[in-house]
Amino acid sequence: MDTKEGARTPLGESSPTGERLSLVTICLDSEAGAELRQFVRGTPFLRLQAEVHSYLTDEDVVLSWMQGPGPDICLIDFDRDRPSAITTAGRIHEKLPNTAIFAISSNSQPNLIIEAMRCGCTEYIVKPADREQLLEAVARVGGRKREKREQLSGQVLVFLGAKGGSGVTTLATHLAALLAKLFSRRTVLIDLHPTCGESSLFLGMTRHQYHFYELAESVDRLDSDLLQSYVLHHGSGLDLLPAPDFREPERRVHAESVGQSVDFIRTKYEYVVIDCAPGLNDQNVEVIRRADHLYLVTVPEVPALRNVARLLDYFDHHDLPQYKVDVVVNRHLAKNSAISDSEIEKAIRRKVFWKVPNSYQKVIRTINAGDPTADISDSDVARSLMSWAEALGAKPRTSTDSKKKANKSFLGLFGR
Ligand SMILES: Nc1ncnc2c1ncn2[C@@H]1O[C@H](COP(=O)(O)OP(=O)(O)OP(=O)(O)O)[C@@H](O)[C@H]1O
Ligand SMILES: [Mg+2]
Repeated sequence: MDTKEGARTPLGESSPTGERLSLVTICLDSEAGAELRQFVRGTPFLRLQAEVHSYLTDEDVVLSWMQGPGPDICLIDFDRDRPSAITTAGRIHEKLPNTAIFAISSNSQPNLIIEAMRCGCTEYIVKPADREQLLEAVARVGGRKREKREQLSGQVLVFLGAKGGSGVTTLATHLAALLAKLFSRRTVLIDLHPTCGESSLFLGMTRHQYHFYELAESVDRLDSDLLQSYVLHHGSGLDLLPAPDFREPERRVHAESVGQSVDFIRTKYEYVVIDCAPGLNDQNVEVIRRADHLYLVTVPEVPALRNVARLLDYFDHHDLPQYKVDVVVNRHLAKNSAISDSEIEKAIRRKVFWKVPNSYQKVIRTINAGDPTADISDSDVARSLMSWAEALGAKPRTSTDSKKKANKSFLGLFGR
């Protein structure tokens, strides 16, 4: 498909509150196109994702260029070929329910406006487009998006390894269980490995029938009851949606269904912690799009650090806001490390967010016990993760809380 700008898929969400809304134009005539480009240049919260020069009338190619959830806005010129413009609007309306469709035309007859609205357009812009009218229409889209986002209250914390075996499952299970147990946060851990995920093993819950991908396949009928029928309950208070067992045939679940499942799950929990398999497969990309925080877990070794630098470049290039990405160095050695902290930060060109000590015996013992919250005082890894969980999950204290604090504080676990 002919596009002027590549259909680069943004990983970041966009809204008028600091992040940008993405716009795709379809068959815009050259004059309107030039005006539109100027409008975008003067509107900081808008980003021109692509200019498409043919209507989407061919079923097969309809949305192949729109990966993921699609742009925030599609602006379709209805003047070149009205029936094709109507088909295009109808298809986008059907396939990308989160994309707002604007019609633009030099013809403002009421019956034509009604026709455009019936096929899914929410705005009808008359040429030459009035800047104020466009601005108001775009602001309405931003407002609706913000409202929707506010309804989705839970924070999505995505853990991704710079390479396999970096400690993603270890850190994700610890942090999730600590949030649930010590800070009474409604927390669910999703094991996103397509097969052989180990979070259920780390939590000592190996006997389970269902897994997250089965739930994602049923996203169309997902409600609270269905979700609860899939969730496993850990003694710490943490809920778990495990990965498929290695005996299960590998399933091809649409990445979009994975994303929509996360959208639903976050309405039911305060924290949705996601344990990703290494790499940027479609499922990982889909949850990264939704991440409030992406924790990039690395070990202090050259190949892993090189991957961190590459992944950071990739996220930067795909519009994932920098403040959402944090680098975590796992198996960190305070002394005698072959690579010093300043060398690490120089290599990745940013500060390290968290350092988790190297403590193999303790980690193995925790895995064997199946409970990351069981023996905190004796594990420096658990203690490090506890401070992290506290930074995230500690609720503001009321005066009644302060009275309870003397006995109930997590420091009690250390006998302090
Ligand atoms: N802080 C740590 N100190 C010592 N050993 C650790 C630490 N964190 C993890 N490990 C060990 O490293 C190994 C890999 O950890 P883990 O399974 O969590 O990695 P992963 O990134 O989830 O791996 P995968 O890519 O296979 O999903 C495990 O044997 C674990 O015990
Ligand atoms: Mg793992």
